Amino acid sequence: MQVRIFNDHQTLSDAVASEIIFLLKSKPGAVICFASGETPRLTCRLLVEKIKQEKTNLSRCTFIGLDEWVSIPPENEGSCHFFFQHELIEPLGIPLKQFHLFNAMSANLQEECKKMDKLIAEKEGIDIIVVGIGMNGHIGFNEPGVSFENYSHIIDLDETTRTVGQKYFKTPQVLQKGITLGLKHLLEAKKAILMANGSRKAGVIKRTVEENVSNNFPASIMQAHVNGYVMIDKDAASLLDQKK
Ligand code: F6R
Repeated sequence: MQVRIFNDHQTLSDAVASEIIFLLKSKPGAVICFASGETPRLTCRLLVEKIKQEKTNLSRCTFIGLDEWVSIPPENEGSCHFFFQHELIEPLGIPLKQFHLFNAMSANLQEECKKMDKLIAEKEGIDIIVVGIGMNGHIGFNEPGVSFENYSHIIDLDETTRTVGQKYFKTPQVLQKGITLGLKHLLEAKKAILMANGSRKAGVIKRTVEENVSNNFPASIMQAHVNGYVMIDKDAASLLDQKK
């Protein structure tokens, strides 16, 4: 794992968007997995700009959404689906057959997990996975205590996630379960980028980088990734022992 520190959210987001462009140019059939949320929003916007400017070929790539709130419909502005619809699918005009999101309204969520795992296996794995970090160290909805051996699964959300997650919604929501790719997917991805910005993430970034790897703090798994990058701005890096 490497830590890369940027001056601000803009330069961080620009660097991550450039990584995706580089990948798409070198491997047009790449499989790209993205988290939603506040952290990657700017990356998505810059990525859309770059793809349009550079007329990057998107006809063969595959996009995957990392996770979803169970029972929150896609038209709800706080859903991950809504985020991807408005930040990537519509602006890029990507056909839906290339964009794979969990259907968290399905009566058979296990089947959703199986479908996602099958897709990833058939595509021979994820080329790049871009994730954020929650205030409890979660990645996707891999909450503290989760097994590192999991592929896609349904999980009871941690109290912190239920509370912090309210920020995405206009009205209070009952957030109980999530459906998410597993940390095994992250470990097996050819490249993993964990992004964070702002001083409120400084404490969790310190734990990610400096604590022993443990499923009590899922983001620490980044240390075990052979091609893992923790890409953060100066504020999120402010508590690290080594600020390169
Ligand atoms: C969302 C997701 C979550 C977020 C994390 C940080 O799809 O996977 O794990 O990445 O909760 O959220 P923000 O970026 O809003 O601080």
